[in-house]
Amino acid sequence: MTAPDLTESSARKALLRLEGILNKIFGNDLNPLYYLGALGFCFFWVLVVSGVYLYGFYRTGIELSYPSVEYITNEQWYLGGVMRSLHRYAADALVVVMVLHLLREFILGRYRGARWFSWVTGIPLIWLIYTSGINGYWMPWDKLAQYATVATMEWLDWLPIFSGPLSQSFISQEVLNDRFFSLISFSHATIPLFVLFFLWIHILRISYPVVNPRRKLVVGVLLAMLVLALVKPALSQGPADMGIEPRNIGIDWFYLFIYPLLDVWSAGQVWALVIGISLLLGVLPWLPSRFKQIPVAEVNLKYCSGCGFCVADCPYEAVVMKPRSDGMHFTEEAVVVPDRCVSCGICAGSCPSSTPFRSEANYVSGIEMPSLPISGLRAAMMNDLAKLTGDARVMVFGCDNAADIGKLRSAGVAVMSLPCTAMLPPSFIEYALREHQVDGVFITGCRESDCYHRMGGLWTEQRLAAKREPRLRGRTEHGRIRQFWASSADFRGLTQELESFRATLRDQAE
Ligand code: HEM
Ligand code: SF4
Ligand code: SF4
Repeated sequence: MTAPDLTESSARKALLRLEGILNKIFGNDLNPLYYLGALGFCFFWVLVVSGVYLYGFYRTGIELSYPSVEYITNEQWYLGGVMRSLHRYAADALVVVMVLHLLREFILGRYRGARWFSWVTGIPLIWLIYTSGINGYWMPWDKLAQYATVATMEWLDWLPIFSGPLSQSFISQEVLNDRFFSLISFSHATIPLFVLFFLWIHILRISYPVVNPRRKLVVGVLLAMLVLALVKPALSQGPADMGIEPRNIGIDWFYLFIYPLLDVWSAGQVWALVIGISLLLGVLPWLPSRFKQIPVAEVNLKYCSGCGFCVADCPYEAVVMKPRSDGMHFTEEAVVVPDRCVSCGICAGSCPSSTPFRSEANYVSGIEMPSLPISGLRAAMMNDLAKLTGDARVMVFGCDNAADIGKLRSAGVAVMSLPCTAMLPPSFIEYALREHQVDGVFITGCRESDCYHRMGGLWTEQRLAAKREPRLRGRTEHGRIRQFWASSADFRGLTQELESFRATLRDQAE
């Protein structure tokens, strides 16, 4: 079996087109598709806050649960009712962003190599969130709860782990006891703790994880849910009665879609489906694919001063500082953790020794990508620059995951595509502008707020604005540098921007 390679597939193109439209509506900073994981956290916290409030008034017991939820909903509609609706809608929204997040990472191919860790730890989150959500639907003990409880027990009965049929325990009102309500109430409060624990593990290998969406996005999302809560409040569907089979009930398709499926398929088939999907997701990162990760970063101790810039810039916690092992007078040295490295090259761009202003032809940097050594980049750049002719000669640096800059190459334009734009040490820009008389340097890469390797676009902007090490030196003529962020769906805009930059350079030359 082969993992589908969607790198430049129609799914990826469609995703980029959709994100482009949302960027126009909301701006890159507030594009919800760039903040799906962070929105997941946001909805989780809304669930916690509203859930704590609801627990304050919820009563556990066959005769108590339904009236207590009715009290919250109707007597306290202005607060309790709103909290109940927020709880319901945040739960639905959590599933929506989780599924979109999974699909997006899949379409972008961000589940292979070192990223397997975040991918695989996402799978228990799906199970936990669904378990908690379904459990939540039992709590009001209305007709929907009755339907969902009985259907779940019948489904669980298929598993050979319970001694007697569980569904038998729920067939009559008499055998249902208060212990059952204490149990569901306890589990509904406990499972979210496991969700939180797995969320922590999920982002353990990610530096600077984005767990909070932009404030405006949070406000917008909360307002939308509040309006929904007032316009269409979450209501119960009449008290449960085990003597009467519930009919014509409305179900929440985000959580309970599995139950109508149980009407058509056998319990065993539905188990096979959900376990099968989970196993498939679990093995996906290791299925053979055309994706080839270039060799991971390597430290060359002789040129490492232990400055820690690479540790600060690595987006995947893949470089750590350790006590010096080679007797040099520095206290620490950089060490790459190969299992965590996604081969983005950002560390090579952050190392002060990755400068082209060095005399040896085959010099080495403190940290390098073995397949793309910094001295090789310099040689390739010099070779390309030497061939440029005409006026407004430009060196374009870009990213393998963004717009294909190879198509920009012309007599006056040289191009160099890197695994990530942030692999470019700013000193290369100075070098190209000063030593080799190129008229301008054009920097491009993934769309703003959407770096494929995370952080690369931001680090590049900060280095060029002299706000982050290694800085672009103040003497560099900023008028001869242009940044423009573009995905493969923005190629026309990229070409126009490059032409406008070259026109400016021509004007400056006159
Ligand atoms: C509601 C549950 C989930 C939440 C709240 C969540 C949240 C997050 C967050 C905050 C990040 C870091 C994003 C960043 O800073 O770039 C992340 C990364 C990631 N998530 Fe999730 N996640 C959830 C479920 C899942 C699931 C179900 C999967 C797939 C099975 C998944 C796959 C991934 C992957 C592969 C990454 C790493 C992306 C990269 O390396 O750039 N997540 N998640
Ligand atoms: S290439 Fe460097 S920056 Fe990128 S993940 Fe590996 S160690 Fe980190
Ligand atoms: S950036 Fe370079 S010099 Fe600094 S710690 Fe990393 S490898 Fe060593």
